[in-house]
Amino acid sequence: MSINTVVRVNKNLHKERVNYDKYVLNLEDTSDSPFLQFDEWYHEAEAHGGFEANAMVLSTADEHGAPSSRVVLLKAYSNDGLVFYTNYASEKGRQMATNNKVSLLFFYEAFQRQIRISGLVERISEEESEAYFKTRPKESQFGAMISKQSEMIASKEELERRFEELKKSNIDPVRPKSWGGYLVKPNYFEFWQGRPSRMHDRVFYRKEKETWVKGLLSP
Ligand SMILES: Cc1cc2nc3c(=O)[nH]c(=O)nc-3n(C[C@H](O)[C@H](O)[C@H](O)COP(=O)(O)O)c2cc1C
Repeated sequence: MSINTVVRVNKNLHKERVNYDKYVLNLEDTSDSPFLQFDEWYHEAEAHGGFEANAMVLSTADEHGAPSSRVVLLKAYSNDGLVFYTNYASEKGRQMATNNKVSLLFFYEAFQRQIRISGLVERISEEESEAYFKTRPKESQFGAMISKQSEMIASKEELERRFEELKKSNIDPVRPKSWGGYLVKPNYFEFWQGRPSRMHDRVFYRKEKETWVKGLLSP
């Protein structure tokens, strides 16, 4: 890594400063289960409305350790972990096939909160992917059928033409084998609550054997 790089500034954001003062997170008020704590914050975000509480940043890394991030939608969660759906042959799918270590991030701006999760990812059963695929709107099913996600395309028109053809046909949508769900099994959670003067509250949970150890982190 090069050091002491001189940075040219086109736009200076030094005065951008929000004071985080809406909520407090005390260790003694958190659940002993990170899943229950997640559930509590998730429900608060969902009840607030006005944004997608289930939108989360998924970070993966390639075989050289180079990370990449993108938003996916959380579709289910339980004490087993968090489920999302995508294309197994996409860039993220290929990365997860060689490196099953991933992280998830939820940013709830309205609450001045973030939730960080790390864990191991695995594919869910074909039956579960099939069942969820069937609940999607027909057009989304067609979309999944024609999109080779993350591959370069010659033109948008060509993709739209194939989509319109499928819609006009009498074909029943079929789940491509390359489309399905993943389960992220967490081994680490961090709940971050913004506080005044950058004295933020941070509560972490680390899985040790079958129990969760929790504690505080310095802001
Ligand atoms: C709000 C939002 C929700 C998204 N939900 C999903 C999703 O559930 N599954 C998915 O494959 N891509 C979803 N995407 C698109 C991804 O961010 C990404 O563009 C796509 O999965 C390709 O990523 P990749 O090339 O890194 O594999 C969503 C994007 C946004 C902004």
